[in-house]
Amino acid sequence: MSHPELRPRPPSPLVEVVDERFAARGVRLLLKRDDLVHPELPGNKWRKLAPNLRAALEAGHGEVVTFGGAYSNHLRATAAAGRLLGLRTTGIVRGDELADRPLNDSLARCAADGMRLCFVTRSDYRRKAEPRTRDRLLAEAGAAGAYVVPEGGSNALALRGCAGLGHELRGAADVVAVACGTGGTLAGLAAGLDPGQRALGVPVLAGGFLGAEIRSLQEAAFGGPAGDWSLAEGFDHGGYARVPDALEAFAADFGARHGFPVERIYVAKLLWALVALTASGTFPDGTTLAAVVTGRP
Ligand SMILES: Cc1ncc(COP(=O)(O)O)c(C=O)c1O
Repeated sequence: MSHPELRPRPPSPLVEVVDERFAARGVRLLLKRDDLVHPELPGNKWRKLAPNLRAALEAGHGEVVTFGGAYSNHLRATAAAGRLLGLRTTGIVRGDELADRPLNDSLARCAADGMRLCFVTRSDYRRKAEPRTRDRLLAEAGAAGAYVVPEGGSNALALRGCAGLGHELRGAADVVAVACGTGGTLAGLAAGLDPGQRALGVPVLAGGFLGAEIRSLQEAAFGGPAGDWSLAEGFDHGGYARVPDALEAFAADFGARHGFPVERIYVAKLLWALVALTASGTFPDGTTLAAVVTGRP
């Protein structure tokens, strides 16, 4: 029997917003308010973690271990999920130099939710997917038998959870756009849409490696390519977690116009990209565009 916290949730709201930057080009903009899907596990955190936590509980695990950087939303969500479900959680954190410093707000929230934090060197962290390094890191963290969720939470179960987001958007839009870190959310979302609908990913990290990642994530989850997706590169604003003044001002203005808190690291870059792509005529007149609000500040 699934934990009551993990029961299926109603579809998150889909709302039309009126914004002249889109209307002037004949584009309808919808916001998929997936940040409202769960009060403590917003957006893609819920989509990815819920199937993994169900699997962990069904297999009788009492502990979940995962990986992240010092500001990881994923670590925070895993810690909150552990508190809600009564599961022990361990977070393996990039950067052993952090062990001697006061915790930042994000890690302090993890700790307050009961997550045990283990700081590891950057070189170990880079190699965490290699089985020998991973097993050693888990053993050193005292989490050898724990259920392992990868960095960013993107594994096959997570993609199937994100396909549920696609199902909720069937028939509702021509193009569904989402910000990408690991690409797991886009990979699952694309698989869940109707044929004829298109998923568009906006990478928030510089690099150009994401297409191959998404193909391999889809291979693992669905046995091959799934859905129609593409990436809009060039909107990383200097790299992960960089929020230049112009982006900050854009996000504050967007939030004020449309009455919701715009998460800066992912959602702001997505919305900026959609305004820019619309202005340059990427979407034909008559397009209905849905932007997925994947998280909260
Ligand atoms: C708010 C938010 N949006 C989007 C993403 C990107 O998700 P993915 O790693 O599946 O591409 C993340 C990743 O953690 C996130 O926190």
